[in-house]
Amino acid sequence: MMRPTIAFSVLMLLMACKPADDVKAGERPTSYGLGHTPTAAEIAAIDIDANPSGVGLPTGSGTAATGAVVYAQKCAACHGPKGEGIERSPKLVGREPAAGAVFAADFKQPKTIGNYWPYATTLYDYIHRTMPLSSPNSLTPDETYGLVAFLLTENGIIPPGTTIDAKSLPAVKMPAQKQFVPDNRTGGATFK
Ligand code: HEC
Repeated sequence: MMRPTIAFSVLMLLMACKPADDVKAGERPTSYGLGHTPTAAEIAAIDIDANPSGVGLPTGSGTAATGAVVYAQKCAACHGPKGEGIERSPKLVGREPAAGAVFAADFKQPKTIGNYWPYATTLYDYIHRTMPLSSPNSLTPDETYGLVAFLLTENGIIPPGTTIDAKSLPAVKMPAQKQFVPDNRTGGATFK
C-alpha cells in the first residue's frame, strides 16, 4: 500500500492551514481559519468547578446510602471496600487524629479527608472532576453527592442519613479547617 511521506503530509497540513488568499506577503492574516467560537454546550461541559464556598455546585443530592452503592461499583476496587486504601490509591476513610492533624509538627503524618481537607465542597469538586481514575468527569451530580455523603459519614464528619446537596455541603465544617490560615502576605520581607 502506498503511504504518504512525512514531507507530503506536512505540505498538505500547511496548505490546509494556509491563510486567506487576499493576504499579501509580509502581512498578518486576520484569521488562520482554525477552530470555532465555542457553543454554550461546549463551555458548559468544561465549566464544572465548585469553589470552597459552594459556588458552582450543581442541583442534585445524595445520601450515604446512595453513595455506598456507587462506591462499591466504582471506587472500592482501588480504594478498598472500606476506603482503607490499596497500594497507590489513598486511604479515604480514617481520621487520625480525629481533631485534625498538626502537619507542621510532623510532615510524615498521612493526610486524609478527615484530618487534612479544609473544605467539604472540595471533595465534590475533586471527585467529580477526577474520579474514577480511569473515567474522570463521568459521575452524575447525584452519584457524586452520594459519594461525598458516604465518605463524610464514614469519616464521622456528618451524621448518617444526612442529605448532601448544594445547600447542605458548604455548611459542613471540616475538622482540619482550623489548621489553615489565609495567606495574606503581600510580599517583600514578610515572605520566608
Ligand atoms: C483505578 C483506580 C481508582 C479508582 C477506580 C478510583 N480512584 Fe480515587 N484515587 C486513585 C488514585 C491513584 C488517587 C491518588 C491520585 C493522586 O494523588 O494524584 C486517588 C485519589 C482519590 C481521592 C483523593 C484522596 C486524598 O485525600 O488525596 C479521592 C477523594 C478519591 N480518589 C475518591 C474516589 C472515588 C469516590 C472513586 C469512585 C468514584 C474513586 N476515587 C475511584 C485511584 C482510583
